[in-house]
Amino acid sequence: MEVRDQWSSRFSFILAAIGSAIGLGNIWRFPYICYANGGGAFLIAWLVALFTAGIPLMILEFGLGHRTQGAASDAFYKVNKKFEWFGWMAILVGFGIVVYYAVIMSYCFNYGIHSLTLAWGENTQEFFNKTIGLTQSPFEIGGFKKFIFLGLLASWIFIVLSIWKGVKTVGKVVYATVFIPWILIIVFIIRGVTLPGAVEGLTFYLKPEFAKLLNPGVWLAAYTQVFFSLSVGFGIMIAYSSFLPRKSDIVNNAFIISMSNCATSFLAGFAIFGALGYHAHLLGKPVADVVAVGPELTFVTYPHIISNLPFWQPFFGVLFFLMLLTLGIDSAFSLVEAVAAGVRDKWKLSHRTTNLSVGAIALALGIPLTFGAGFLWLDIVDNFLTKFGISIICLGECILIGWVFGSGKIREYVNSLSEFSIGKWWDFFIRFITPIVLLFLIILEIKDRVISSYGGFPRIAEFLGGWLVVIILPIIGIILMSLRRREK
Ligand code: PHE
Repeated sequence: MEVRDQWSSRFSFILAAIGSAIGLGNIWRFPYICYANGGGAFLIAWLVALFTAGIPLMILEFGLGHRTQGAASDAFYKVNKKFEWFGWMAILVGFGIVVYYAVIMSYCFNYGIHSLTLAWGENTQEFFNKTIGLTQSPFEIGGFKKFIFLGLLASWIFIVLSIWKGVKTVGKVVYATVFIPWILIIVFIIRGVTLPGAVEGLTFYLKPEFAKLLNPGVWLAAYTQVFFSLSVGFGIMIAYSSFLPRKSDIVNNAFIISMSNCATSFLAGFAIFGALGYHAHLLGKPVADVVAVGPELTFVTYPHIISNLPFWQPFFGVLFFLMLLTLGIDSAFSLVEAVAAGVRDKWKLSHRTTNLSVGAIALALGIPLTFGAGFLWLDIVDNFLTKFGISIICLGECILIGWVFGSGKIREYVNSLSEFSIGKWWDFFIRFITPIVLLFLIILEIKDRVISSYGGFPRIAEFLGGWLVVIILPIIGIILMSLRRREK
């Protein structure tokens, strides 16, 4: 029998998990969510969410992966044969995400090159629309965007090469993909906070509004951010921990990884809000009028800021998009490795075959997104997979492991290995707090979607890109489960 891949050191594993957790979300999502939900006061909700749900779930995933030595599909299969489909579903949510995550990376590639000439000019919104050929509606397909496709191809080549020999390769690549963005974030913090207007920006980011903590929406935002940010619920942490040697710490690793991720988010806010303060200063507007989030922040607002930096604009432009690319790539390949590990566990295929086929399928699925309407579909799929996908998977984990399998077994298992132990509080969070919060999240999201379609898109587009994707994943999971596994 083939020996299972193993991390070359504990540090490689920690870096890989940090690399997965730290992604675009730390830069383009966290600072905005923090500002919009009470600034400094939000940090309280966020830390509570981290300790009552994020870290407990990460410990659960690590414990499960390590104990069963299987990727999500295999891990759930080993817990109970009937649960295998659920493991596949977790993997498939991740797979769906990486299909469009790679498209965003392609945008970053393109923008990295455009930075050299500051090609976006004055009207950065118009330029973005032109670059991706944006159409008015999801059903107006628009033209094929060659450069977006080429960027996508490049992303996939990088992703597949990074996991070429499984975690052996990953363990080396992450030195670059974790440390480069960290250094660049520091560069952008310094650049951001030394610009005129930065203080107003930072005040905006962190001014505490404690009254907001009375609003349940703020707490839900904190939990959602924590789940997404820690990369739990996609089978990644299960797969990654399944490659740890038998004697490995679990609990301390989970704390180190989560805290590093959160520190990065918090600090990234200084880079972003410093720059937004400058942007407001340039336009002579209040910061509130210029804040942006997600793709708009990175491809519309930030390019404008870059063009108006006092010196070295192309240099900072290239570094900014390099930062995003290096941030994104280790999240992307962690998702692919979670899929590949699941396939290898079940069918005993080689790294090469799995990596090439998973990469090719994901690339092919991404091609429609390189057309003009692609961005709109990406938006819909993203909303459904990150809201419903993650919550459903994390809820399922709490139920299947916390209640059916027994959280006590995982707790005792990780305690027997770890540098410090977790107490019964952990079971309480996994069995009660986390699932209750997740149920709330799911119900509220369903309610919102019943009231109005996501982003005002036509219901039919919302159905095809959203509900259908969410419904189809467990079905594919059941199909994959029913396929014969290869025993040797
Ligand atoms: N955690 C990553 C972020 O904050 C996003 C991510 C999602 C990574 C899913 C992997 C899987 O951006």
